[in-house]
Amino acid sequence: MTIPYPTTPSVPAFTEVAVPSGAPRPRLAFLGTGYLGATYAVCFAELGYDVLAVDVDAAKIAKLASGQVPFHEPGLDELLRSNLAAGRLRFTTSYEEAAEHADVHFICVGTPQRADGMGADLAYVEASVTALAPHLRRRALIVGKSTVPVGTAEWVEQLVARHADPQLGIEVAWSPEFLQEGFAVEDVLRPNRIVVGVKSEWANGMLYAAHKGVFDLAATEEREVPLVVTDFATAELVKVAANAFLATKISFINAMAEVCEVAGGDVTQLAKAIGYDPRIGNRFLQAGVGFGGGCLPKDIRAFQARAQELGAGEALRFLHEVDLINLRRRSRVVQLAAELLGRRPGPAGPDLSGTRIAVLGAAFKPNSDDVRDAPALAVAASLAKAGADVHVYDPQGMENARAAQPTLAYETSMNDAVAGAELVCVLTEWAEFRNANPAELADLVAGKRVIDGKNCLDAGLWARAGWDYRGMGRPAPAL
Ligand code: UDX
Repeated sequence: MTIPYPTTPSVPAFTEVAVPSGAPRPRLAFLGTGYLGATYAVCFAELGYDVLAVDVDAAKIAKLASGQVPFHEPGLDELLRSNLAAGRLRFTTSYEEAAEHADVHFICVGTPQRADGMGADLAYVEASVTALAPHLRRRALIVGKSTVPVGTAEWVEQLVARHADPQLGIEVAWSPEFLQEGFAVEDVLRPNRIVVGVKSEWANGMLYAAHKGVFDLAATEEREVPLVVTDFATAELVKVAANAFLATKISFINAMAEVCEVAGGDVTQLAKAIGYDPRIGNRFLQAGVGFGGGCLPKDIRAFQARAQELGAGEALRFLHEVDLINLRRRSRVVQLAAELLGRRPGPAGPDLSGTRIAVLGAAFKPNSDDVRDAPALAVAASLAKAGADVHVYDPQGMENARAAQPTLAYETSMNDAVAGAELVCVLTEWAEFRNANPAELADLVAGKRVIDGKNCLDAGLWARAGWDYRGMGRPAPAL
């Protein structure tokens, strides 16, 4: 039975519930210490909770336990170390220990795109629940955080019913996360909303207690964190709907960039002008080489696959276009490269052999070392496939990039990457690239040609320094 909860913009009154472990506030476990789980575990320890984080990857656990974050996320290392020292945060590979420790277990494992299609692979969700459930010895709440197809929470409930002692009254809830890489610490400590999908007052009360630290911090800063209490399906859908909207917004402006390119318009000015309308807003309206990362691309595909299964495929058909627009932007960079280098497009795309190209950026966005579905790295690979000698530099993403695309040449600095290049492509808007001095770089290159794949450079400045500048969806600058 689903208890109908009102959707409220402020914190509603909650039933105080007894914490099963008897601790003054719920003890928390985070299952999975990837980007999501590790960030949440550290930040909830920072909020004062007694936290245990679990992963099957012993090397990752050892690294975290020794105070090292296995990925780049600003501010997280210091919080990891201070909370380890304070004794509020521990790491383990034992689900038994997690079962013993926690009142609330957050599922934070990955849900990648399936190898055989567009849907989400729920194998890790299943593995974490079935590993935990048999060890539970008292009442607990299992809360899904991972991004999943709608219907997963009900399925997790069935898994729990099958694998946990039915006498314990284990319950399930769903509470999606909205972390942005690079801002993840802030997004956990100061979220712009909390969404919970629950079926009982008890689950609601436990989740409130598990988030009280967030609400208390907001109160001390005289902020309010909106809370939406809803059913399972809505909670699951909120996350994918939000990501679908963001992806659509980016592809919308990139579609306008395509039109600007043939009509002679400037998409950056267009975005600025439409963004002044508060109904549209100027955020997520930056045209460029498109969106990437571990979330938006896979989430819009999984959402379509799930809607299709449910018989609502038509409703999300536009997301297919969103995906295509996004991928076309990557091809556009290769096309621009060919144009700038005076190469004609052949039947199998342009032939760039014999050219040397510097690619600045590999991560899918700045302040991240994440190269999953990164447009920058995908373009670098396409340029190399077209025959170019591609030299890549990224301030943080080198190790991951090398693992993902081992055949590209990697340089240890921006200057090394651009040295001798006939074309420079800026594909991730790191501050180091945005602030680069075009006059200085001009002395290093073999040809002063630049593609600004993120429209992040001062076009006039580069043009005045003698560069043949091309942005995305904007005309070449007048000198
Ligand atoms: C996204 C959502 O923002 C977040 O709420 C969700 O929890 C996970 O997915 P993230 O993947 O960290 O977060 O990246 P985000 O900042 O959203 O950027 C996604 C991609 O879109 C990046 O490749 C970025 O460069 C690109 N982007 C973003 C644009 O091309 N134009 C824009 O205007 C904004």
